[in-house]
Amino acid sequence: MMKIALLGATGSIGKQVLEVVHNRPQFKLVAISAHTNIDELNRQQKAYSVPYVAISSGVSRNGINKEATVFSGENWYKELIDASDADIVLIAVMGFAGLLPAYYSLQLGKKLLLANKEAIVSGGSILTVLAKEKGTQIIPIDSEHSAIFQCLQGEETKNIRKVHLTASGGPFLNFSEAELATITPEQAIQHPVWKMGAKISVDSATLMNKGLEAIEAHWLFGLKPEQIDFVIHPSALVHSLVEFVDGSIKAQLSYPDMRIPIRYALSYPDRFEAEVEPFKWQNMVFKELNKEQFPSINLAMQVLEQGGSAACILNAANEAAVQAFINKKITFAAIIEMVNDALNNISSINNPSLDDLILTYTETVNYINSKI
Ligand SMILES: NC(=O)c1ccc[n+]([C@@H]2O[C@H](COP(=O)([O-])OP(=O)(O)OC[C@H]3O[C@@H](n4cnc5c(N)ncnc54)[C@H](OP(=O)(O)O)[C@@H]3O)[C@@H](O)[C@H]2O)c1
Repeated sequence: MMKIALLGATGSIGKQVLEVVHNRPQFKLVAISAHTNIDELNRQQKAYSVPYVAISSGVSRNGINKEATVFSGENWYKELIDASDADIVLIAVMGFAGLLPAYYSLQLGKKLLLANKEAIVSGGSILTVLAKEKGTQIIPIDSEHSAIFQCLQGEETKNIRKVHLTASGGPFLNFSEAELATITPEQAIQHPVWKMGAKISVDSATLMNKGLEAIEAHWLFGLKPEQIDFVIHPSALVHSLVEFVDGSIKAQLSYPDMRIPIRYALSYPDRFEAEVEPFKWQNMVFKELNKEQFPSINLAMQVLEQGGSAACILNAANEAAVQAFINKKITFAAIIEMVNDALNNISSINNPSLDDLILTYTETVNYINSKI
């Protein structure tokens, strides 16, 4: 039996992980964390008899179920992972906050299942080196990266010519500039295909999500920027494609349901049987994505070329600007303008350490907040 620590259990991915592990005797959920949602944390703790829980924000732990051992404060994730002695750490936390737990899990040689993309975008250089050093693996849950990971089984990465990241295009793909100017957070959070947390829904609407995914793919699969391409595919049935040097292309398909990549990450290299709607063939539309048309993707590709801590700056600026948009302090169009501004004004550090990344993140968030 594998013991799982699930960080960010109260979010959209966290709740779907709970559905996947429910009634699977191979797994024992030994630890869960929430940031602010104590009611949901308590419900999960009771439903799954979880022995160790943590609250990662400064909110009071007084209301947490007495049956569980509770951790909080700066080292919440270290204490949670240590006490629960988890074999697998699954990080479904939102944002840069996933980086420290990811780093700590790899340091301990744990198997890391990563839904959080901001950690690998900001700290891919140190996380991938650490995973190699410790002889452990980072298994992606993000659907595009799970697709690539599945396509690469039995293959050698040296034989990849290109990967094609599919993009549903978000809700505003065909909007004019004037229409884009009036978008509200409520509209941006309604994704046409996926039901996700607020931040990633806004990222999908600006297409920054695709930019972040390109950086994520670079680190997870050792791809050069010119090996990463994008294709618009609104129905989100094909989750990405890998083109090999001999001209063969492999793709992974399924209905858009995050429980599928979650299940694969947990069962890998095996597969678990699951009840899913039978796949029905339908017209699949693909449209070329012109990178130049999407400033968010352009910025992400520039950052990838630049290296150093530039991706950390991009991610931090985006996190702060998206939060400001959700709080109705800036417009939708201002999000990417602010990311661009931060990249022009904050210096990137070569070969950043974990401490450098934390400093860069804080400096960038402060910079964006000073502009709002
Ligand atoms: N949702 C998807 O379909 C999807 C697909 C691919 C990748 N992802 C990635 O998965 C991650 C989670 O996405 P989501 O949609 O599940 O987000 P979400 O619904 O907003 O949930 C975020 C989770 O993280 C916790 N959290 C928020 N801020 C935190 C912080 N500073 N420190 C520690 N924990 C914090 C939240 O706790 P509280 O609820 O208690 O506040 C919640 O448990 C993101 O990196 C996203 O890009 C998501």
